[in-house]
Amino acid sequence: MFDFRSDTVTRPTQGMKEAMMNAHVGDDVYGDDPSVNALERYVAHLTGFEDALFVVSGTMGNQLAIMSHTHKGESVLMHKHVHINRYEVGAISLLSSVYPKLVENKVGYLRKEDIIQNFTPDNIHFPKITTVVLENALSDGRVVDISTMKDVMELAHEYGYKIHMDGARLFNAAIALNTDIRTLIGQADSCMFCLSKGLGAPVGSMLCGSKAFIAQARRYRKMLGGGLRQAGYLAAAGHYALEHHIHRLKEDHERAQKITDMLVSFGYEVLTHHRDINMVFFKLKPHQDEQTWIQKAKAFNLILSGSSYGWMRIVTHLDISDEALMHLQMFLASL
Ligand SMILES: Cc1ncc(COP(=O)(O)O)c(C=O)c1O
Repeated sequence: MFDFRSDTVTRPTQGMKEAMMNAHVGDDVYGDDPSVNALERYVAHLTGFEDALFVVSGTMGNQLAIMSHTHKGESVLMHKHVHINRYEVGAISLLSSVYPKLVENKVGYLRKEDIIQNFTPDNIHFPKITTVVLENALSDGRVVDISTMKDVMELAHEYGYKIHMDGARLFNAAIALNTDIRTLIGQADSCMFCLSKGLGAPVGSMLCGSKAFIAQARRYRKMLGGGLRQAGYLAAAGHYALEHHIHRLKEDHERAQKITDMLVSFGYEVLTHHRDINMVFFKLKPHQDEQTWIQKAKAFNLILSGSSYGWMRIVTHLDISDEALMHLQMFLASL
């Protein structure tokens, strides 16, 4: 079966399995798992942050970041569409006791003017904004250009805000923007990226920041039950992914472009301007029923997901080959 639902569905490659089998492990709660320590050092060096922390998921990394940057009763500024607001079970309210200040605009991400418009004066009636959340790539498959990110970060720091960057697909964004991840991260105070998405590791994300920030996040990770023991087997998979799978992400983007062209040629409405990374968003034709469409696709060995916010999504990844695209084409031609 060719699974187009998400880039989270990949299975470890043979090389990755060997790296896991051969990993030297210890007990990461005691801080003596050599494979986890090696991964954290490697990521700190790669991103330019002082330190890094291996966490079980992107959601955990984001939540630890908000917990570590904020205090109870403060406010966090973010665009309404960011993952932290939409898809993390509202956890910042519960875990950090902070108030999400949500921005809505036409572009779908924070700009300098949004920071200005949402500035709240120091007044006892208002929660104080202390942290800003940025996302790149966006969950809708687009990337935000470097100059917009730079302007927002500069102003946010002028206002004294901390910046957390959700870079679940950081490497996809860097490739799409033809830049390196350090430029993309810019002045962010912390950054999370996922090993378990396009990079193809089975589990894990990295949270990066200063030594003091990571020390605090490590404590909260333990509090949430995220202190793992022989985590080195998983860290080895992530480390392998970083060393072997970054360069191939551009193939996923190219295949996503081919799928975009294919859908357009079959008369589907496609968000062509959203196709920056490995995701394609489109609408079924008015006479097509979503569940029937998904069922029919199974006969062509395709696993497809249903719509979200009105749009269907197809995602390319490590396990999507040109053969998978041929199957998709045959399915579309059969309708
Ligand atoms: C932008 C973004 N942030 C965070 C996450 C959360 O990652 P995880 O599924 O590992 O919790 C996702 C997952 O798709 C995402 O797209």
